[in-house]
Amino acid sequence: MDGRDLVRAVKEIGTARGRRAWRSAWSHRRADAEGLPRRGAERARVPGLLTGTQARPGGGVLRFARSELLVRVTVGGAVFWGWDGAGPTPSYAVVGGGPEPDPRAVLEPDTGGGWRVVSERVTVAVSRHGAVEVRTPGGAVLRRELPPRWWDPVAGPAEGGSRWLQRAEVPADARFFGLGGRARGPRLRDGEYRLWNTDPKGGFGPDTDPLYITMPVQVVVADAGTHLAFYDNTWDGRVALRGGEEGAGSGPDRPGASELRLEGGPARCWVLVGTPSRVLQGWAGLTGAAAVPPEWALGYQHARWGFGSAAEVRRVVDGYAERGLALSAVHLDIDHYDGHRVFTVDREAFPDLPGLAAELAERGVRLVSIVDPAVKAGDAVHAAGLAVGEHGAFVRDARGREVRGEVWPGECAYPDFTDPAVREWWGGLYEERLGQGFAGFWHDMNEPVSFAPWGDATLPRSARHVLEGAGGDHRAGHNVYGLSMARAGWEGLVRLRPAERPFLFSRSGWAGMQRYGGTWSGDVESGWEGLRASLALVLGLGLCGVPYSGPDVGGFGGSPSPELYLRWLQLGAYLPLFRTHSAIWAGRREPWEFGPEVAERAAEVLAERERLRPYFVTLAHLARRTGAPYVRPLWWGSPEDRVLRDCEDAFLLGDALLVAPVLECGADRRAVRLPRGRWYDTATGAAHEGPGQVLLDAPPGRTPVLARAGAVLPVRRPDGTVGLEAWAPARGRTGGGVVIRDPGPGFEAGEVERYTVRWAGDTVLVEDEAGGTVRGVELRGL
Ligand code: GLC
Repeated sequence: MDGRDLVRAVKEIGTARGRRAWRSAWSHRRADAEGLPRRGAERARVPGLLTGTQARPGGGVLRFARSELLVRVTVGGAVFWGWDGAGPTPSYAVVGGGPEPDPRAVLEPDTGGGWRVVSERVTVAVSRHGAVEVRTPGGAVLRRELPPRWWDPVAGPAEGGSRWLQRAEVPADARFFGLGGRARGPRLRDGEYRLWNTDPKGGFGPDTDPLYITMPVQVVVADAGTHLAFYDNTWDGRVALRGGEEGAGSGPDRPGASELRLEGGPARCWVLVGTPSRVLQGWAGLTGAAAVPPEWALGYQHARWGFGSAAEVRRVVDGYAERGLALSAVHLDIDHYDGHRVFTVDREAFPDLPGLAAELAERGVRLVSIVDPAVKAGDAVHAAGLAVGEHGAFVRDARGREVRGEVWPGECAYPDFTDPAVREWWGGLYEERLGQGFAGFWHDMNEPVSFAPWGDATLPRSARHVLEGAGGDHRAGHNVYGLSMARAGWEGLVRLRPAERPFLFSRSGWAGMQRYGGTWSGDVESGWEGLRASLALVLGLGLCGVPYSGPDVGGFGGSPSPELYLRWLQLGAYLPLFRTHSAIWAGRREPWEFGPEVAERAAEVLAERERLRPYFVTLAHLARRTGAPYVRPLWWGSPEDRVLRDCEDAFLLGDALLVAPVLECGADRRAVRLPRGRWYDTATGAAHEGPGQVLLDAPPGRTPVLARAGAVLPVRRPDGTVGLEAWAPARGRTGGGVVIRDPGPGFEAGEVERYTVRWAGDTVLVEDEAGGTVRGVELRGL
């Protein structure tokens, strides 16, 4: 117990919840003392020397004195390697076992007694000691994995395998991104990062790590190329990152380094190489296409913990309507439940929820429901869960007793979402929510959380999970709890309402969670640091394949100043999930609560989001088709620009826009780094040439946004129809863009409309694919 834990523990013992949390923490500790295999004597092992090889499709198996390595290059160029018999399946992340082996990639002898697999996009070389090098076709080394090291229990194999360590080297100039949602990012500084989904308890800032979503995913950007490495292993672990150093003068370079330590699970990895867009496309191919949110979920949404009653919800919705502010959805938090119990309604405060939902729907406002995984022990949902399968739906300890924890409703049980039967049961429960009129779902507390006055506020590590039939304990199941809950909700909703795409976002998750929806920042602190952290999260998660996310605008737990609130709203307007939210004890988040000046400017911000909503629709569909996140780091199209790799205070929104939010208190202008090409300041129309830096005015009412010369994007016209906005290309150049219109609430892919833009004499023409001139385009940058 550290000092902070002690203070918290003493404070909490004074309340009934605190006393229950104490009891539950003790029972978890006892469960682990009885049920967690003790770590006995261990023996270190490395692969040893290469003894033989056997060709297999796309590569082969390389036998070493004390292990064997499967290497495979797949169609499309993704590389897989796995030690000790690990193959690509089973996997919580990879869909359908991964892409097929590339039939043209063959294992052949390399120099120095090693072997290699040569393919069109990548070469994999394995040394005779078991180092695995991933090289570009031109021979530049992108990543070098040193031979792994295991610590095998002397007493014999342990469940989940041995602890292992994997060191890797990357080029000296490389930068690391990813690892899930990291507040300290998007560029990952030197240091250690834990792979264990965690509720940081209370607001978090840039120094809080880990957070709700961790992933063993690294995106590495270097002069030699971009690559993504995914160690497909759900276990608890740590990654230490250290940037490289380029030798001064003729001195040697020191490579960048990643050191991964996992408590168990398979030693295996996927590596994808190419441009950033190719890499993310490969990642979506490997782990699944991102769900497209319904069109309305790309509009502005308002949440609060503690609306308290239907009357208050109406009051807030009226407030938006009276001021002509577009509002797409209202989110109801746990206070609308009866006694905080999931799948119930407080009928006193919300006597007619379906009626309220229908009334709001008339006004174009959807209702979204929070869904917590923990089920109050002894209530009706719990009783129903006990009847699922042979052993009931809930997580049990090593001795078969149901694991209890403490959450909002009191003593709770935890559905084991890694059991397909439990997912099916749970998915069916959303029928009640749909019946109440809810149109979307907000999964929370699914790291999962069990309040604890000290230590890890989650389930005991010895708790058992079905893990799709493989069986294992919480050390293996923890990180995929939220992901599996998302799957349960998504699949249930698709069954219940097959004609509509579900809207689902989840606080916790893992690689592949984009298949079932998005996420949000969680309880980001209400300060300028929190504002910066919220951008870091969206950028980092996007690079890990989760394109739909956004912060609690205004921060979760405090009362932002009017200035901070406005800057947060301005940032949020350019992020996929645009939602104000706050804690029950925190200040309000309605724009008019911050004075008339902020209200006026907030109205402009919300109007701009509405104007750009068709662009967000296009980006959502593009994310599904191509894996490219809506929100991209500035280096996305110019990974060779080293300065951009370190630029964290601006981002690209799709291909067309560069957004430079104000993240500093008191700032009224800011420096903006530009990638190569011409960029127009959308406020003044002034053209700036990149690469380089410009200083732009950013008075309180303004967020610098630049448009790429030659960009074409869809915008909502004042009459509600969708029109095109086009920015003049530089003289002698052409440009273009794609538009995908909302195909409705179902699963239709939407048609891709392609437009080109070019100079014709002194005018700029926008043409469709058939070469026809498009009329009514709003031309800018002339
Ligand atoms: C958690 C969530 C927060 C929610 C609260 C009450 O702290 O992160 O968004 O309001 O629980 O449900």
